[in-house]
Amino acid sequence: MEEERRWRWWQRAVIYHIYPRSFADSNHDGIGDLEGIRRRLDYLVWLGVDAIWLSPIFPSPMADFGYDISDYCDVDPTFGTLADLDRLIADAHARGIRVILDFVPNHTSDQHPWFQESRSSRDNPRRHWYIWADPAPNGGPPNNWRSVFGGSAWEFDPTTGQYYLHTFLKEQPDLNWRNPEVRAAMFDVLRFWFERGVDGFRIDALRFLIKDEQLRDNPPNPDYTPDQLPFNEAIPAYSADQYELHEVLAAMRHVTEAFGERVLIGEMYIPISRLVTYYGCRHERELHFPFNFQLLLIPWTARHLAATIDTYEGLLGPDDWPNWVLSNHDHPRVATRIGEDQARVAAMLLLTLRGTPTIYYGDELGLADVPVPPERRQDPLERTLGPGAGRDPCRTPMPWEPGPHAGFSTVEPWLPLNADYPSRNVAVQREDPRSMLRLYRELLILRRAEPALAIGRYRPLGVTAELLAYERAAAGRRLAIVLNLSGHAQEFRPTRFALEGRILLSTHLDRDGESVRGTLELRPSEGCIVALRDGVATP
Ligand code: NOJ
Repeated sequence: MEEERRWRWWQRAVIYHIYPRSFADSNHDGIGDLEGIRRRLDYLVWLGVDAIWLSPIFPSPMADFGYDISDYCDVDPTFGTLADLDRLIADAHARGIRVILDFVPNHTSDQHPWFQESRSSRDNPRRHWYIWADPAPNGGPPNNWRSVFGGSAWEFDPTTGQYYLHTFLKEQPDLNWRNPEVRAAMFDVLRFWFERGVDGFRIDALRFLIKDEQLRDNPPNPDYTPDQLPFNEAIPAYSADQYELHEVLAAMRHVTEAFGERVLIGEMYIPISRLVTYYGCRHERELHFPFNFQLLLIPWTARHLAATIDTYEGLLGPDDWPNWVLSNHDHPRVATRIGEDQARVAAMLLLTLRGTPTIYYGDELGLADVPVPPERRQDPLERTLGPGAGRDPCRTPMPWEPGPHAGFSTVEPWLPLNADYPSRNVAVQREDPRSMLRLYRELLILRRAEPALAIGRYRPLGVTAELLAYERAAAGRRLAIVLNLSGHAQEFRPTRFALEGRILLSTHLDRDGESVRGTLELRPSEGCIVALRDGVATP
């Protein structure tokens, strides 16, 4: 019982990531909205997720589709009103679903009144809310920092003759988190939403929050190859992952703790060995978890997966809780990266590893990236990084049914639907007992029923070039998860223990209850969860 009580909701939870423009349109403008999400809550209950994270829904000129915020404490009319959000939160809570919002602290919109004031004169009281610097002696930018979205990270502002820093678009000026007034104002933003019942935040672009005080040049990256973003030509040694960030996060955690069990999740693309430092130390906690994006980034082979899982597990401290992500709104979808068959294996992996999983909307249908013709492209990266660099293909509308506009909207959606939506949609897959959607649902049901999966210990059971096997265990119950990463049939025959038990679930959804003795035969791209018989000793 004691052990039971230690677990927080966000440790047991499965998070479902919604890109609000693309989930469900209730007001017939072709763009998803909060009321659309509210009307689909019963689907999320049926699916079996515990929390939703909404990409930004705040007032924004939409230069970066909501990641450029002009008012942190309101809702953009595209998505609805504050009252709509209150209703969504209340209805989600009534169904046992928590609501996580997106906090974008690194930058505001250039239309935010704070920036408008800041840029108005050098002695404006809000001047130092942003990062301003004199031109270099040659009149160029103050240092060599690059924007993640291409070009210099500095924009010259003729009104006051200085440059301002923007780690992303020039319409997204960076706030100055060295300024205590900025910290106070942004912590008030957190309090505003916590008081409204929000259960937590995903925090955007967190590694960039604090920059080197002297704005020193970044050193060149010896590992840079031309297939990478130009941003990677330098190592962001002075513009990201600065030690003072720990102090900011500890303060943010204190603000959060005052509201009880809320969660802070950080978006940070940094190596795992650095990532784990952002849990904080034993006495000064920071994030509840920094997003672990390894599954998005590593080659999809059994050995890479095994090494990644074991390294991560090995680096976590006793108080640090793991988490896993397969797709998000910034990267090609998992079905595009590894194919639909392996995407089923990936679903089993995501939902059986130790730690909080985040599912990206549409992945539960096996949705792939949708080619978007040039005239319909929306993402600013098409402009700043060049044609094809945009993230539109992984942000397309959720297909709900075979009818017009896939039930997403009554009008043409803001981005095209997947061409196969007449067959790949929620309504059709709900009725198909072998569909990807039913696989996700079965995995979520199992995860809820089996403490071994939700909170149990993790132990590797073996890896070959094609197979990955591990054990999850809690309260005497032990499950073996065996995944075939290849397109050929494989045999799992452990030599260090006697495999004996019963299949609980196959990714093919047709083997429940089958008994296993000694050898587990797996079909191409098949994964199985096997409940091990009591008394079977694993190594
Ligand atoms: C990361 C977000 O996920 C991405 O969509 C956004 O463009 C940048 N941060 C800038 O806010």
